[in-house]
Amino acid sequence: MTDQTPATDQVPVLECRNLSISYFTRSGEIPAVVDFNLKLMPGEAHGIVGESGCGKSTVALAIMQYLGQNGRIVGGELLFDGRDMRTMSGEELRNLRGSKIAMVYQEPMASLNPAMKIGEQLAEVPIYHDGISKADAHARAAEMLSNVNLPDPRRIMDAYPHQISGGQQQRVVIAMALLSNPRLLLLDEPTTALDVTVEAGIVELIKEISAKFGTSMIYISHNLGLILETCHRITVMYSGEAVEVGDIETVFNNMRHPYTRGLFASIPLPGADKNARPLVAIPGNFPLPHERPPGCNFGPRCDYFEEGRCNQDIAIPMEQIAGDDRHFTRCLRYKEIDWHAPIKAAVYPLVNKDGMPEAAEALHETLLKRFGRSGMIEYDPKQSIGKRYPRMDEAGCPFCFTIDGDTLSDQTVTVRHRDTQEQERISIDSVPNWLGERLGE
Ligand SMILES: Nc1ncnc2c1ncn2[C@@H]1O[C@H](COP(=O)(O)OP(=O)(O)OP(=O)(O)O)[C@@H](O)[C@H]1O
Ligand code: SF4
Ligand SMILES: [Mg+2]
Repeated sequence: MTDQTPATDQVPVLECRNLSISYFTRSGEIPAVVDFNLKLMPGEAHGIVGESGCGKSTVALAIMQYLGQNGRIVGGELLFDGRDMRTMSGEELRNLRGSKIAMVYQEPMASLNPAMKIGEQLAEVPIYHDGISKADAHARAAEMLSNVNLPDPRRIMDAYPHQISGGQQQRVVIAMALLSNPRLLLLDEPTTALDVTVEAGIVELIKEISAKFGTSMIYISHNLGLILETCHRITVMYSGEAVEVGDIETVFNNMRHPYTRGLFASIPLPGADKNARPLVAIPGNFPLPHERPPGCNFGPRCDYFEEGRCNQDIAIPMEQIAGDDRHFTRCLRYKEIDWHAPIKAAVYPLVNKDGMPEAAEALHETLLKRFGRSGMIEYDPKQSIGKRYPRMDEAGCPFCFTIDGDTLSDQTVTVRHRDTQEQERISIDSVPNWLGERLGE
């Protein structure tokens, strides 16, 4: 998004200061979000992006104060219009939620009453909020439906939710949220349940809303492309923490966290030709809250990990990037990393697993298990055209595996030693034992 970021000399609509949020379960406390900071100015759209389970929804639910039975804010402050929400009474919070803060969820039917006509549901909002007559409320609801680009609002008003499409339902939900004229709109993966073309329309709508109504927005997604298109600022989250925060263009062009870099490389950007710009998978898996390593959470997956420094058992603080008071990173080594160097060869392009034969998937799994963070596949789409099988490669492994044969039933692999270039052919099922022997286990 290229618009100027709104002025910053006003009171933020929302501010999270060192916010920590936990869930309490039978097996103990789950620190889902730790030391989270966010400042949202009037009219600003702020994207939160990160892999599944990193805590995005938890942040949104904490803002709504909807953490459920077992969720609680355990530290920090949450300010709405300068006032700490944690000191507000239940009634104040209910009023705030109804009129100042609205949330749109991934699944539109979660917010719609299946047994009630859409017009009735929408009209309830202004009747309740503004105490206007039923007829006026219906007129306002119909107007809002055209604002969210729904054709034939009268017909939609008269329909039940199941009589319209998923994309239309989501527009109705957004219209419902806007009818209360909120200062803050939280969108938690609002397009995930929709197909790609419908998604594009909703994204356009989100951009329009921000321009037309000046609503401040927090837009949660694991689709980085959508965030880039719609937001002024971005927070990248990893395993419960914000790891990089900044203006969209700064983070996009001058990212200063290795995870952001990996994420940008692994997600298709809008309009990108996936063959011209292969996806790069970040090696390894994301740690669950109770499995976080000492020091940097991203350490076990980071190409720039430094023993004794990145895994010191201390919390790594968010640091401001020199010369830019709007850009922060949670990386100890950001000044030492050559951000212009090509992504390390250890990270191979992983285009997709679709169409990959079962044997290849099994080999991938074996390597992943055996080599953990570096269990990677190389799948070169150009090479595999007409060949049916992807070439496979393993980064942290001294051997390179290539799946042989032209038919799915041929399940042998050629193993080549990376240094000596010696080759041998083995059955795919014997790979784990074969590797064990070679590696002296
Ligand atoms: N009610 C709950 N009780 C216990 N743990 C929970 C609860 N809700 C979420 N968690 C845990 O908190 C962490 C953060 O979850 P959250 O739903 O915020 O992630 P997310 O980034 O929104 O993921 P997704 O992209 O899949 O929606 C996860 O480890 C999750 O398992
Ligand atoms: S602190 Fe160390 S491990 Fe963490 S992201 Fe920076 S370089 Fe990588
Ligand atoms: Mg979520």
